[in-house]
Amino acid sequence: MHVADIQFWITLFTPNRDNNLSGVVYNSDLISGEFRSFIMSHRVLTGITPSGIPHLGNYIGCIRPALASQDDGHEHLYFIADLHSLIKQWDAKTRQNDILHVAATWLALGLDPQKTIFYRQSDIPEILELNWILTSVAGKGLLNRAHAYKDKVADNIENQQDADKAITMGLFCYPILMAADILAFNADSIPVGKDQLQHVEIARDIAARFNHVYQQDFFTLPEAIIDEKTQIIPGRDGRKMSKSYDNTIPIFLDSKPLRKQIMKIVTNSLMPGEPKSTEGCTLFSIYSAIATPEETQAFRQAYAEGISWGDAKQMVFEYLDQLLEAPRARYQDMITHPDTVFAHLEEGSHKAQKIAAPLLDKVKGLVGL
Ligand code: TRP
Repeated sequence: MHVADIQFWITLFTPNRDNNLSGVVYNSDLISGEFRSFIMSHRVLTGITPSGIPHLGNYIGCIRPALASQDDGHEHLYFIADLHSLIKQWDAKTRQNDILHVAATWLALGLDPQKTIFYRQSDIPEILELNWILTSVAGKGLLNRAHAYKDKVADNIENQQDADKAITMGLFCYPILMAADILAFNADSIPVGKDQLQHVEIARDIAARFNHVYQQDFFTLPEAIIDEKTQIIPGRDGRKMSKSYDNTIPIFLDSKPLRKQIMKIVTNSLMPGEPKSTEGCTLFSIYSAIATPEETQAFRQAYAEGISWGDAKQMVFEYLDQLLEAPRARYQDMITHPDTVFAHLEEGSHKAQKIAAPLLDKVKGLVGL
């Protein structure tokens, strides 16, 4: 065990850790692999919403860390949350396309469908059955407090509109469906970004409520696992890389357009030879998130020695280009042969259903259906 492991351990058992949030927040740089594997117990589940072409922020902040853990000896379930995408996207063709691109991205970047269970949410009808059973015990007040919903209401009020304008029941009930995703497998650990922490907390509350109503310790209370190191990756303009800011860099651009995008990253007007700060530097954030600690140290040194922005950009480009070369070829191949991608998902859905179907039978028995 590292010293940092022990520090982490103390935090874990300190009341009111991280402002009373229920999730386990850790820094993957500071704790050892074995320890991380210890805190991620048994069944680990993550959902991926298909929306648009995945970008470098998704890769660095979410896909890479998620895939790094597939060898940790736990059971991993990854799924394409296509039912969740229904609330934001009403175009069927776009959805089909998004599902293919997101699934191909994860597979191309190394998701191993043999070692893990990789499936499509809508292939598991048990999730929707459980969704209703959970809806029937979930308090409306609990969902009133969900940030995504509350923010929309606040926007409407601020714009002097009806509080419910453009709010669907899908948006309101989104956290219940997420609870069903998790509880249909009795998953223990849910690695998510900070923005999803509240959703996992709601899933815990719903699980506890069900257990209380039916007087059974039936559902495992899931725990959110948050790697605070890989939170925010800046986009070309320095703000968080996000589709809503239109500052993203797609993962699988060909070399030339990739280089062009990296060259467009905003820096400052310091000249070659002038020492540069790594603090708040977009280029440095991207590089340090993907390079080894030694490489990052060397890059930091280059900044101190006044590397030119052009050279720094070239280094980041070359690093990314080399890292993504093989996955890019696999991705192109899958996009041109979508059947291979859908075959993987189908196989995964069979495996997932082997877990969810007997669990649902038990739930139905418990509630008297
Ligand atoms: N809502 C999650 C997101 O937008 C995706 C998701 C759906 C999910 N169901 C889940 C994540 C269950 C974890 C567990 O990122």
